[in-house]
Amino acid sequence: MNAEKNKKIYIETYGCQMNFSDSEIVASVLTDHGYSATDEIQSADIIFLNTCSIRDNAEQRVKKRLQHFHALKKKKPGLMIGLLGCMADRIKTVLLEEEQLLDVVAGPDAYRDLPRLLEQVESGQRGVNTLLSMEETYADITPVRLGTNGVSAFISIMRGCENYCSYCVVPSTRGKERSRDAGSIIRESTELFDQGFREITLLGQNVNSYSWQEGENEITFARLLEKVARINPILRIRFATSHPKDISDELLETMATHPNICKAIHLPVQSGSSRVLDRMNRKYTREEYMERVEAIRRIIPGCAISTDIITGFCDETEEDHGETLSLMRWVRFDYAFMFKYSERPMTLAADTLQDNIPETVKDRRLTEVIDLQQKLSYDSNQRDVNKVFEVLIEGDSKRSGDHFMGRNSQNKVVVFPKIDAKPGEYENVKIQSFTSATLLGDATKTHLFV
Ligand code: 5AD
Ligand code: SF4
Repeated sequence: MNAEKNKKIYIETYGCQMNFSDSEIVASVLTDHGYSATDEIQSADIIFLNTCSIRDNAEQRVKKRLQHFHALKKKKPGLMIGLLGCMADRIKTVLLEEEQLLDVVAGPDAYRDLPRLLEQVESGQRGVNTLLSMEETYADITPVRLGTNGVSAFISIMRGCENYCSYCVVPSTRGKERSRDAGSIIRESTELFDQGFREITLLGQNVNSYSWQEGENEITFARLLEKVARINPILRIRFATSHPKDISDELLETMATHPNICKAIHLPVQSGSSRVLDRMNRKYTREEYMERVEAIRRIIPGCAISTDIITGFCDETEEDHGETLSLMRWVRFDYAFMFKYSERPMTLAADTLQDNIPETVKDRRLTEVIDLQQKLSYDSNQRDVNKVFEVLIEGDSKRSGDHFMGRNSQNKVVVFPKIDAKPGEYENVKIQSFTSATLLGDATKTHLFV
């Protein structure tokens, strides 16, 4: 450790939960080298932006933010600016050379190299490493928990992606898929539980293809989930994201068997049309997706299902769009993230298909999808009224210090008047009413809705 380095780092994170998890790895690597993390940007010596490339607007936001930091740098000479994550390789040339905005650029597999890269900057050079790795999983690094509520935490169990959905930039930004050592995942989960955390979300681009060889035995995702669930019955487990093509009955049965594995599945459908799904290279049809939803309903009654939807993908017709709406009605998704298609460089779609749906049509279809989902989410909340859910308390409600906020197993936010309890404890709550994003209720001694 170098005393000279006693510098403060501030990390601003964009994109998915995996990126937030990566920021915690970055904080860990650097605090091990004498830096300290701060959540006050004014006191930072180094500002990192951990970036996302998933849609063009995500990149535009980061570029604006960089301009702002650049202005800060003029007022505070010596301030260093670093760009991390998915945008690193894509735009390093522009931002480093043409616009001279950056001191450090590190891709998702280069975070161990950050101390060296920062030293290079100290000696007057730029520090750049955007190499992707076949092996890096950061398995031995204990993340520094940033912005934590002390109750829920995220653990990355794999990196990269090899599904090659034709719209998606991730295989090119995050590289080959690799699973992390199962033993290190169990150890990290156990440590979190011992520190008082009560909910762990296991993260990967496609968790269902998790695989770790332990001697003769393969640890599949279902087996890993089971091992984490066995750490303690009062530790809740969640996971994201599942690919519909390989969410197995084995996994659904494991979820049904363990009460502490949360009854919520995020199952991105993207489109309700088999023709569009084929062009997206999703490797399942509308019917196969419906069959998986039926399996979830059969094996895990009461399980919430949420999804991602893209409107206006290449060649999408009105009929295709109608099939997305009808599938949404059939599944009755509890929640959805909805986007209009944004062509990304270095993707199969950019190379082989035409981004030929006019913006106005994409916008209109997106509005129709959002309007329908609002109604479906309303109906989903309505069905919860008078039910009793076990809620893990996360803290005070944002709106009122007299109320607790927590989540039920289905991942819905529940707010209720405070009782004699603490964050990290469970309480049965009877739902009385709801707003668009929150169930409202009262603590009760009544038995749980099962
Ligand atoms: N355009 C629009 N949405 C996209 N997504 C991924 N790539 C794109 C793109 N090029 C959406 C998908 C994915 C979610 C994380 O982001 O719905 O599931
Ligand atoms: Fe996450 Fe994908 Fe954005 Fe990268 S591009 S941060 S993997 S959402």
